[in-house]
Amino acid sequence: MDDLRLESLEGVGPVTSKKLSDAGVHNILDLVVRGPVDVSEITGMDIDTAVNIVNKARKQLIEDGKLEKEFVTATEIYKRRQDIGKISTGTNALDTLFDGGIETQAVTEVYGEFGSGKTQLCHTMCVNVQKPKEEGGLDGGVLYIDTENTFRPERIVSIAKAKGLDPEKVLERIIVAKAYNSAHQELILQEAGPVIEENKIKLIVVDSAVGLFRAEFLGRGTLSVRQQRLNKFMHLLTRTSEVYNIAALATNQVQSSPDTFFGDPTRPIGGNVVAHSSTYRVYFKKSGKKRIARMVDSPHHPEQEVLFTVTEAGVADPEEETKKKKKELEE
Ligand code: GTP
Ligand code: MG
Repeated sequence: MDDLRLESLEGVGPVTSKKLSDAGVHNILDLVVRGPVDVSEITGMDIDTAVNIVNKARKQLIEDGKLEKEFVTATEIYKRRQDIGKISTGTNALDTLFDGGIETQAVTEVYGEFGSGKTQLCHTMCVNVQKPKEEGGLDGGVLYIDTENTFRPERIVSIAKAKGLDPEKVLERIIVAKAYNSAHQELILQEAGPVIEENKIKLIVVDSAVGLFRAEFLGRGTLSVRQQRLNKFMHLLTRTSEVYNIAALATNQVQSSPDTFFGDPTRPIGGNVVAHSSTYRVYFKKSGKKRIARMVDSPHHPEQEVLFTVTEAGVADPEEETKKKKKELEE
């Protein structure tokens, strides 16, 4: 196995290594995820030394083939993109929108009004990711960062049952972390490295990514601090998804009523910061009993809209619902 120990790096002795692991940086993967600013803060070393050490760690990961080189040909990028895993949503509609499913090495941000199905999608993906590859999953576990206290194991059970999976086994592979404030939310992600490896995590859910930041940093005066902190969190999420080759699914609410007089009421909270660090952005909207999903911002998906619905089985195609109703009526 490749040497991932912190002390395998020149310039990292036992003292530094202890300080780092106390702060959740357990190996050189974590070191690269956190970056030089954090490393310098944790260890007290000056920033230049920290940059040096993080660069060495990065170099070693590149040599081990765990990380992409700085300068690569398009052919290599193309090859690496073949390694990207996709988790099917279990619906034709959303899979079409996502071009096969929710991708690893990327953050997918879903934003939309209350009740538009964001949390339901998160629950559905918790089950789908556990399926074998042939069935659209990645045979992986889940880290669910719950900031709004809306994670419901009962929903997981009903979705798993509907998909023919053993609910007990499915529950066992979902690690739930409740975040009590934005600093705690950040801390959970900072310390996620070992959890990801131990539990073969292939999906990180953050529901919601911005809620706590919004609640804590109210008013114009604190807006820039909020954006900075949120920015840091989203970048950490992006790096985690890339370094560990896992999918990240983050939700976001839309601006609430006081703002709707001015401008677009469906603008996501967190504005540009979240937009720039998430790779894919999808907008969910209620339309009667159905839901509309629109791909808003993607480097390679066409901008399009699809219709889906929420059922006992999680997110579903609208036709499925109609078929089921028809069958029930016939019986
Ligand atoms: P906020 O977190 O409030 O911003 O909303 P959200 O977008 O996360 O909404 P959520 O995913 O919680 O969607 C809630 C909606 O899903 C409900 O209004 C129901 O319409 C639907 N729903 C949730 N559970 C079930 C279920 O077991 N069966 C069916 N048929 N629908 C469900
Ligand atoms: Mg929700």
